Amino acid sequence: MLSTSGHVSGRRLAELLGAWHGSDRPSSAALADAVRRLVLDGRLAPGTRLPAERELAGGLDVSRTLVVRALDRLRDTGFAESRRGAGSWARLPGAAGGVQSGGGSWLPGADEQVLDLAQATPAAPPELPAAVERASAALPGQLLGHGYQARGLPVLRARIAEHFARRGLPTGPEQILVTNGAQHAFALALRALVAPGERVLIENPTYPNALEAVSGCHAVPVEVPMSERGWDGELLAATLQQAAPRAAYLIPDFQNPTGVRMDAEAREQLVRALHRSRTTAVVDETLVGIEFGDADPPPPVAAFDERVVTIGSASKLFWGGLRLGWLRGPERFVQRVLAGRAALDLGSPVLEQLVLAELFADAGTIAARRCDQARRRRDALVEALRAYLPQWGFRAPEGGLSLWCDIGEPVSTRLAVVAEQHGVRIAPGPRFGVRGGFEDRVRLPFTAPVPDVGDAVGRLAAADAAVRGRAAADPLTSPIV
Ligand SMILES: Cc1ncc(COP(=O)(O)O)c(C=O)c1O
Repeated sequence: MLSTSGHVSGRRLAELLGAWHGSDRPSSAALADAVRRLVLDGRLAPGTRLPAERELAGGLDVSRTLVVRALDRLRDTGFAESRRGAGSWARLPGAAGGVQSGGGSWLPGADEQVLDLAQATPAAPPELPAAVERASAALPGQLLGHGYQARGLPVLRARIAEHFARRGLPTGPEQILVTNGAQHAFALALRALVAPGERVLIENPTYPNALEAVSGCHAVPVEVPMSERGWDGELLAATLQQAAPRAAYLIPDFQNPTGVRMDAEAREQLVRALHRSRTTAVVDETLVGIEFGDADPPPPVAAFDERVVTIGSASKLFWGGLRLGWLRGPERFVQRVLAGRAALDLGSPVLEQLVLAELFADAGTIAARRCDQARRRRDALVEALRAYLPQWGFRAPEGGLSLWCDIGEPVSTRLAVVAEQHGVRIAPGPRFGVRGGFEDRVRLPFTAPVPDVGDAVGRLAAADAAVRGRAAADPLTSPIV
């Protein structure tokens, strides 16, 4: 079954297509080509339902026959799929569905035949079943209440507050809001901070779903480029001063996708610049705690300024399937976010919150194992890349869950398509760009189990060779993990 991820209107598709036939006469070939490019560079997500033929013809001011022929071409080349009487959907050739979803967002695929080097999400820790049992035992204590806790269960808020305090950031439970993941926390923070048309500073490249959240609230992204070594403090300060954005979304810890970490001095400078431009920072700490360097971690950004809003997640340290995260901020801000929450949802599931509260009791053991596992998987990935794809460049990060690889040529999107045909799924660079770009980049998470890494990278090397039209390195002669 084709996975579906929304619908694009005729008007929106016409906007995305822009000057699709240039100064030439409109033709079905040019239209099919232009749609194909939108799918390849990620602006039209596979699974998106295409407008009806008549609507698209109207939007583009062309004949319906031209649209029908363009759709035929797209179907023939694997870029569209139609069901009689139901409509047509964009797709990627060779993709078995669920590869990408939601105009630029990135959701897990469900096809287990494909080795997944796209998702930076680890499996659940072995402590989870026991935590579920303990949570079930605690559940009767909740059953007499109504179960709607828009702020989150007090026991969990207390655990999250302690978690911050242990990192040197004294926090009261009244400063915590439990959310359905860090992504939800960001969307809630944006709703409280930003009106349509207002500016939000965002790193480029960044986490694709954060970009979705920014465009979802009709804010205008103001990008600040990341370099190989991280943030350019002067440029960041100048951008804040010039654009005076209402909010800034930053991932200072093992930035997704580049993997860099902002040091303490840069954090201090950042909060001064934020203060001058009256910008509220939303700091995403999703990857905090997955770290294996020798240096002491820098203080949380909020330790330099209590106005900073921090979002965090249970997904990387514990498990993404809990769908829980949190927001920390000044109590008044938490109240404001809470007031806006009712339009979206009325609180997080009680049993999962009890499970997470139980997991926090094992946080030390779980984190130590996670970090050790991430380091071993990173090393395996680095070793496999050096063996199979020695021409690729990357900086091995001291934490987080992924490598940001320089693949040397602008072929990332094509590589992702061909890799899927070789049975390995990757996240192409343009997914992380504020306006696409990064065609010479691929993000590779080190979340795959060590025994799978050699096979996955071997397939990737074969796809890379196919895209560039040369022979792959011979896995049998390459030392591999
Ligand atoms: C930087 C960053 N923020 C947020 C998220 C989403 O977190 P959650 O699963 O808690 O919504 C991710 C997930 O990969 C991430 O990498």
